Amino acid sequence: MKRHRRSIIVVALVLMAAPLLYAVISFAARPMPRPSWLEPARPNTTCILPAGVVRYEHMQHLKSLRDHVLRDGQREELAGARAQGLGSCRGCHAHRELFCDRCHDRASVRLDCFGCHVY
Ligand code: HEC
Ligand code: HEC
Ligand code: HEC
Repeated sequence: MKRHRRSIIVVALVLMAAPLLYAVISFAARPMPRPSWLEPARPNTTCILPAGVVRYEHMQHLKSLRDHVLRDGQREELAGARAQGLGSCRGCHAHRELFCDRCHDRASVRLDCFGCHVY
């Protein structure tokens, strides 16, 4: 009789703990969201540089393209320069203020490019 009552208490305790256990497990197993302060690029596209490179090297790319086009006058030689230039970014990164500016503000980078280049 005594043992019977004890197992009822155990079952009751387990039942009471279940919601807490469920909450703890689902909290630990929740999918981690992407850093939401960067607007995602247009879906099913690839960037002008391979992912992983572009984050760190987009500035070198843009500046060397600019020098080739503007200073060395090689626009003709650089087939598709437009497709990789400053003007191309907005095609996939729709809002400058939700993408480029977010990073640059945080890194204290002041970009004067947009005084001339519309984006
Ligand atoms: C004083 C105005 C001015 C500023 C500031 C400026 N640019 Fe330009 N840029 C130009 C002009 C003009 C061209 C030539 C456009 C043409 O021939 O159609 C050009 C061309 C380019 C090109 C060649 C390809 C393209 O996209 O048309 C790149 C890349 C470029 N600039 C990048 C930059 C970057 C990066 C900055 C900032 C670090 C910058 N520019 C700042 C005026 C400017
Ligand atoms: C054809 C579409 C397309 C164009 C054009 C494009 N991008 Fe991208 N960009 C993407 C995609 C897609 C990603 C995400 C890559 C990934 O995470 O796999 C990306 C990622 C990036 C990142 C990295 C963001 C991060 O999370 O670190 C930077 C920086 C970037 N792009 C800059 C640029 C610049 C600058 C231009 C213009 C010169 C440009 N992109 C043009 C599609 C594009
Ligand atoms: C993941 C963060 C990140 C994103 C997104 C990003 N940038 Fe940058 N960008 C940086 C950082 C950090 C620097 C400064 C690097 C340095 O000075 O060494 C920089 C520098 C630059 C420079 C050189 C500025 C100068 O005067 O030297 C240009 C041009 C530039 N970014 C263009 C863009 C454009 C256009 C976009 C959006 C299409 C963009 N970036 C998105 C992080 C980012």
